[in-house]
Amino acid sequence: MEESDSIKNKLIKLNILLTSGCNLRCLYCKPDHGCQMLFLPDKILDSIQEFYDLGVCHIGLIGGEPLLYPNFYEFLVRIKKFGIKISLHSNLTLLNNKNFEWLSLVDNVFTCINGPSYVNDKIRGKGVYEKTVAAIKLIKNNYNVQIIIDYIITKLNSRKSHVDYMLRLADELRCKINFQPVFEHSLARIDLNGLEDNGLSITQKDIMNFYNYIMEHYSDILYNAREYINSMADNGYVKLDNCQMGKHFFTIDVHGDVVRCYKFLTEKEKPNGFKLGWKNAFNQVGTTYCSSCFYAHQFNENCLFK
Ligand SMILES: C[S@@+](CC[C@H](N)C(=O)[O-])C[C@H]1O[C@@H](n2cnc3c(N)ncnc32)[C@H](O)[C@@H]1O
Ligand code: SF4
Repeated sequence: MEESDSIKNKLIKLNILLTSGCNLRCLYCKPDHGCQMLFLPDKILDSIQEFYDLGVCHIGLIGGEPLLYPNFYEFLVRIKKFGIKISLHSNLTLLNNKNFEWLSLVDNVFTCINGPSYVNDKIRGKGVYEKTVAAIKLIKNNYNVQIIIDYIITKLNSRKSHVDYMLRLADELRCKINFQPVFEHSLARIDLNGLEDNGLSITQKDIMNFYNYIMEHYSDILYNAREYINSMADNGYVKLDNCQMGKHFFTIDVHGDVVRCYKFLTEKEKPNGFKLGWKNAFNQVGTTYCSSCFYAHQFNENCLFK
């Protein structure tokens, strides 16, 4: 197969960072890399036909906080014209009850709640729990959209009582729940070697205990793949080989640079889709498999094509 054909005929999922900025400052995250807020240039709207022609079937809109993106609605309309599935990843605190009809264009909403308000707000900021729960209720009362709550497991919210609380809450809110441990990445404000962890780092033993407890509570509100939970319960967060990111899945940053996943966002040399064309940029990223990586767990075993 020619190099230029390596992404042809494959299902492709893109994660697109609409902005580097965010209205929140969660303890484990560093939007903006501590610099100014950047937005993806408008010309991305003209790239959607090309994405479609290359086989893109699913786009995740991410950030930072994607609801800050000025052309958000227009972007959704353009993507939907091609029948591409849309997942929105948002803290939902900016959702406005006067202007949320655009939700009819979205297939999945991922948001984040990290336990009862006293612990969630310690991690995500004061008043965030209440705003997120109110937004979920607003969406559920008006649209039939699937909502997945990301629960980021840290030292502060790793008790069995937290799991019980979240399973009850997700059930009540008619959402699925995705349990995943906090991890280091290029935009993270956490260093699992303990240099800058804000007291959030969690041990392998606690991760395994956490997932063992979830195994006792398998239920249809869990978004996690069963294999993922079993593997986390047995082995904890271990490095995996042959990550599919960069094969069927790419991340586009606010400059139009293409990377496999969050881990590579701060690399210096990245192929730029606006300059090279998207096909060339995807092909430059996707020639080899990554090996020995922590994130592969989350991406490959849990959520790659969900
Ligand atoms: C980067 S945020 C972007 C979308 C939106 N701002 C939000 O918070 O939902 C996407 C998800 O990544 C999670 N996240 C951020 N930093 C993380 C880290 N260091 N480890 C694990 N998850 C993290 C957030 O809690 C959220 O669930
Ligand atoms: S996790 Fe999301 S809401 Fe929190 S600071 Fe990062 S981008 Fe903002």
